[in-house]
Amino acid sequence: MRSLKYLFTCLSLIAAGCAAPIKDPHSYARPEAIRVEHLTLDLNVDFTKKQLTGTATLRLRREQPGATTLTLDTQDLTITRITLRPGGAVAAWKLQATDPLLGQALEVTLAADTTEVAIDYATSPGARALQWLEPAMTAGKVHPFLLSQSESILARTWVPLQDSPSVRFTYDATLHVPQELLALMSAENPQKKSPDGVYHFHMPQPVPSYLMAIAVGDLAFRGFDGRSGVYAEPVTLPAAAHEFEDTPRMIAAAEKLYGPYRWGRYDLLVLPPSFPYGGMENPRLTFVTPTILAGDKSLADLIAHELAHSWSGNLVTNATWNDFWLNEGFTNYFQQRITEELYGHARSEMFWLLDKNKAKELMATLPAADQALYLELAGRDPDDAPENVYWKGSLFLRLLEETAGRERWDWFLREYFDANAFKSMTTAHFVEILKAKLPDVAANAGIEAWLHGPGFPTNCPVPRSTAFASVEAEAKRFAGGSPATTIAIGPWSTQERLHFIRSMPSLGQERMAALEDAFHFSASGNSEILAAWLFKSIQEDYRPAYPALERFLTAQGRRKFLKQLYTEMAKTPANLDLARRIYAQARPTYHPVSQSAIDEILKAK
Ligand code: BES
Ligand code: ZN
Repeated sequence: MRSLKYLFTCLSLIAAGCAAPIKDPHSYARPEAIRVEHLTLDLNVDFTKKQLTGTATLRLRREQPGATTLTLDTQDLTITRITLRPGGAVAAWKLQATDPLLGQALEVTLAADTTEVAIDYATSPGARALQWLEPAMTAGKVHPFLLSQSESILARTWVPLQDSPSVRFTYDATLHVPQELLALMSAENPQKKSPDGVYHFHMPQPVPSYLMAIAVGDLAFRGFDGRSGVYAEPVTLPAAAHEFEDTPRMIAAAEKLYGPYRWGRYDLLVLPPSFPYGGMENPRLTFVTPTILAGDKSLADLIAHELAHSWSGNLVTNATWNDFWLNEGFTNYFQQRITEELYGHARSEMFWLLDKNKAKELMATLPAADQALYLELAGRDPDDAPENVYWKGSLFLRLLEETAGRERWDWFLREYFDANAFKSMTTAHFVEILKAKLPDVAANAGIEAWLHGPGFPTNCPVPRSTAFASVEAEAKRFAGGSPATTIAIGPWSTQERLHFIRSMPSLGQERMAALEDAFHFSASGNSEILAAWLFKSIQEDYRPAYPALERFLTAQGRRKFLKQLYTEMAKTPANLDLARRIYAQARPTYHPVSQSAIDEILKAK
């Protein structure tokens, strides 16, 4: 029976001219049988119990006529009741065995005429997507805060759904929150608090589950122009509005390159410092870390990145996490193009070089299979996918640009986003499109080596920055003994300062102290510069910087910074002890995503 059904599916797919159904190794869902097309959420947000409770109603489309089992992804959810619509009969359902990575498949038996299922459920206080912050962990210190991070496979810890990037659905939501707080989602958002704590959301564009997002806190809004603005805690709002005021120009630059912004508004939400990422491209509402509030807009390129995801990722979506480079490599490339447009070629070229250096360093530590753009992540947490795909992926696209010529390449990308809007994309399909539209480029760029081979193929683009060349010369001169006061660091950009610290050879205590005395890096208000200096200090075992290191590790929870610093500390027994002591105190303040990363680094061997 089963194989007959399978044959039927294959035949109908062939008839429809489609490829085989996408197999997502990180989801139990079977969208090829029954697909979720709309979600209606009604949730109560309980800060005391650290729990969301309510109902998720899923509207379904049968892909296989006669299919009666709906399979969903869940993790740590308590399901209390499932009813079928029309009719309202109570459904038979079953939670399958728990897998520590994937959670539990929820199987619901449908009636022949079922078009919707309503699932009553509650989240667990430890739900991995969610972080419930005590007031002390916010900027205002008075109200609690709830934030989510669903990418990659954590949406299933707060909503029962088909948690695969290959399934898109529209959604509506009603949230009940404490009266004094504002609720936001990756949807059409309110700009003011409601008097009764009830909020209604509508998301008319279909999105994959990893773009579901929620935040609840004491938040205020300020607009930049008619279609973009920023939400933040009231005390942070003025700084945030200033830091990100180039956002409308970024949107204009992005649209000029790759076509209209299709999501209505584009707003930013500045989160408390425990937010585990630099930024997250939740549609209509990019989530950002406050650690990029440098005061001088020097880290605002991150906004260009998250904005670029409104095309690469949110519009054309990696079909599985194995194709993650299609999201992040494309976005990194697009980010550089926006940077070039707004701030000029010299600045974007510095980013290209910084990225290439990071990729080189990282690849030296990765097994060959993890150096490819296409990854095999089955059985692994996609959140741990090597970041290499960002940098190697964007360099690959730069190579395609150089091979095609910028004009043709931009034409290709614009077409690509138009033709595949609101669809998922596999690596193989991308190659087919490239071969069809730019056959000469596809034939000459050595695609296979980039997608499936290790390292940098020999045709890797070579970014050049004269500014960086002189920074390197200065670093060398300083390491050779010339006084810090002779280094004219004053006019240097953040990127030049970062490159100066990172390209500095081993120095020893006296020269580290000379640098610190001259430039006070330990007191830098720029988190990237501070993190680079602290990293260097651990490498040099330069202890005068350790109080600043401890402060930084307890004041923010951005996974990237934590991973770098704790990993470096874990290399000597004394620093490992210190790291464990700091972590014991800081762990409860980190988001679950950061906690698992650091647990792994500091675990007793
Ligand atoms: N989508 C990512 C964040 C992400 C990746 C979350 C994988 C979960 C799994 C986001 O767009 C991103 O790349 N953020 C970067 C910033 C960027 C400028 C490189 C970050 O958070 O550091
Ligand atoms: Zn990204």
